[in-house]
Amino acid sequence: MKTRAAICWEEHTEWSVEEVELRDPGPGEVLVKLAYAGLCHSDEHVRLGDLSLPDEMGGVAFSPCPMVGGHEGAGVVQAVGEGVTKVAVGDHVSASFIPSCGVCPPCSSGRQNLCDRGSETMSAEPRITAADGTQVKSMAGLGTFAEHMVVDQDSLVKVGDWYPLDVVALVSCGVATGYGSAVNVADIRPGDTVVIVGVGGIGINAVQGAKAAGATQIIAVDPVEMKREFAQTVGATETAASIEEATPMVNDLSWGRGANAVILTVGDATGDLFAPAMGMVGKGGTLVLTSLSHIAQNEISLNTFDLAMSQKTLKGNVFGGGNPRNDIPALLRQYEAGQIRLDELITKRYTLDEINEGYADMHAGKNVRGVIAF
Ligand SMILES: NC(=O)c1ccc[n+]([C@@H]2O[C@H](COP(=O)([O-])OP(=O)(O)OC[C@H]3O[C@@H](n4cnc5c(N)ncnc54)[C@H](O)[C@@H]3O)[C@@H](O)[C@H]2O)c1
Ligand SMILES: [Zn+2]
Ligand SMILES: [Zn+2]
Repeated sequence: MKTRAAICWEEHTEWSVEEVELRDPGPGEVLVKLAYAGLCHSDEHVRLGDLSLPDEMGGVAFSPCPMVGGHEGAGVVQAVGEGVTKVAVGDHVSASFIPSCGVCPPCSSGRQNLCDRGSETMSAEPRITAADGTQVKSMAGLGTFAEHMVVDQDSLVKVGDWYPLDVVALVSCGVATGYGSAVNVADIRPGDTVVIVGVGGIGINAVQGAKAAGATQIIAVDPVEMKREFAQTVGATETAASIEEATPMVNDLSWGRGANAVILTVGDATGDLFAPAMGMVGKGGTLVLTSLSHIAQNEISLNTFDLAMSQKTLKGNVFGGGNPRNDIPALLRQYEAGQIRLDELITKRYTLDEINEGYADMHAGKNVRGVIAF
C-alpha cells in the first residue's frame, strides 16, 4: 500500500516527507494506522550522525540511513499477517522500541527491556520502498513517522481503547524510559535526594518516577527556564540551571552527604558531563545514564579513585529497565488514577509535514514534548 513517511536519507540532511510503498504484513507482522508519534531526541541522534561510524577518509563507514524515523507512537491495528496472536484488528496499540518476544533469557527472567530481539530491529529486512525504488529501513523496526507502519507483533503492546492515543504514544518511549530510570534503575527509596539532569521528554518522567518512589528532594537541572518551571509542577522540589549551580545545592540539601541518585537525561551525554554528574552522587549512590551519545564515544571523564572509595555505581538504562508489556499498561493505569501527569507533557502538535519545525523547536528548548498528529 502507499503511505506517507518522514525519511532521513543521509546524516545532517532534513527529514523528507514523501510517499512510500509499504509491503503487506508478513508472518508475525502487523499493519498499524498511526494516530500520534512523539518527537523523541533519539531519532535526531540518527539524523545528526550520532549512530553512524566515520571512515578514515572522513566519509561514512556505517550508516543507519536511509531510514523512516520514529519509535514513539500509538495507533490502531488495521491488518495482521499469518500467525499473529498477540494483537487483533481494531486493537489500540503502543509501539515498543524494544520488542518483547517473551521467551529469550532476558524476557523470561523479567527483563523484557533487554529482549534479544532488540538488536534485530536496526538490521531488520526493510519493509518500505521509496519512490525511486530504494529500500528504506525503519527506526527500531518501527518507523512511527508515517501514516502507517508494518511491524513485528513483538514490537506492539495492546492498550485499553479508552486511553487517549496521544498519551499512549508518549508512554511508548518517553514516559516508560524516564519513569523507569528513577523507579527501576536508580532504585530510589523514600527519603532520597535525587538529581535529574535534563528535564525534557524523558527527564520530566524521571522526575515523576522519583516522586512516585518517595524521593524527598528532587532537583531538576536544565538550562531552559520553562523546563525548570514545568518540572516543579510534576514533582521537582528545587531547580538549577546547570550542574555547577546544582552541586552546592545538593550538598546543602543532603547535609553534605550527596545525592542517592543522579539521572542523566540530557539530549547528548558528552564525556565531559560524567565527572561533574558523579560529583553530585554521595557514598554508595548511583549515576544512571539514560541519555544517548555518539555510538563511538569511548571516553568519559570520571574520577576513578572516588568511584572506588565512595563505592559509587554507574548504571546504563534502556527503556527504563522494565518490562514494556507490563509497564506500558501499568503507566496508563497510573495516569488514569491521577498518579502521573501526561496530557500536560504535550507542548505542541505538528502535522507530519511540520516534522523539521517540531525538531527545531525541541532543539530550541520550546517543547517538553512535541507530537505529530496524523
Ligand atoms: N536509554 C533509553 O532507553 C532512551 C530512550 C529514549 C531516549 N533516550 C535518550 O535520552 C535523551 C533525552 O531525550 P529527550 O527526548 O528527553 O530529549 P529532550 O531534548 O527533550 O531533552 C533534553 C533536555 O536536556 C536539557 N539539557 C541539555 N544539556 C543540558 C545540560 N548540560 N545540563 C542540564 N540539562 C541539559 C535540554 O534543555 C532539554 O530540556 C536523549 O539522548 C535520547 O536519545 C534514551
Ligand atoms: Zn525515545
Ligand atoms: Zn525476548
